[in-house]
Amino acid sequence: MTDAVAQAMVAIARADFVPPELRDQAKNDLPLPIGGGQTNSQPRTVANMLGLLDVRPGQRVLDVGAGSGWTTALLGHLVGPEGTVIGVELLPGLAEWGAGNMARYPMPWARVLPAEADQLGWPEEAPYDRILVSAQADELPEALVRQLRPGGVLVIPVRGTMLRVRGGDAGDHEVTLHGSYRFVPLR
Ligand SMILES: C[S@@+](CC[C@H](N)C(=O)[O-])C[C@H]1O[C@@H](n2cnc3c(N)ncnc32)[C@H](O)[C@@H]1O
Repeated sequence: MTDAVAQAMVAIARADFVPPELRDQAKNDLPLPIGGGQTNSQPRTVANMLGLLDVRPGQRVLDVGAGSGWTTALLGHLVGPEGTVIGVELLPGLAEWGAGNMARYPMPWARVLPAEADQLGWPEEAPYDRILVSAQADELPEALVRQLRPGGVLVIPVRGTMLRVRGGDAGDHEVTLHGSYRFVPLR
């Protein structure tokens, strides 16, 4: 784990992003249920994904599948006040709960929004330097690659494998593979 990610994980308590009855389990390296059949992801998985994403202060970041708001808050800590984080969550109840959880960590530059049903990501505020996707796709979504800035990085599980996608200057991109993971589906 990089120092920056380790510091973010100390600063943003996972216990604040799980249901109250599960708070004493937040230190366990396991996914935890957050309602709607969804989970707050396993900490080691989140740390690995944030390591691949290599977020820098001041960047613009999109967090697809914000769920509890935990990853959005971690990203908010990593980009700092000069940066921007937009978390989008498909389930309206979770989006509201995730935004409420984030309110414990006042970071006006990071927010959780309900996803639009007919679009993937948040194209109106693209391009992004970094895109994190915490739900598994059947194939690499072109709609998200298009929201990436040239030189930007997208981290996404596709059919059980973690992909790191680096956007090129000419609308091209380069994909590298980073191990096997299980996730809820991207819908
Ligand atoms: C593993 S869970 C939540 C992880 C979350 N980052 C956290 O820290 O709690 C993944 C989330 O992705 C959401 N999701 C699935 N498809 C989505 C989509 N197309 N747009 C936005 N969110 C989506 C699910 O509803 C679920 O809450």
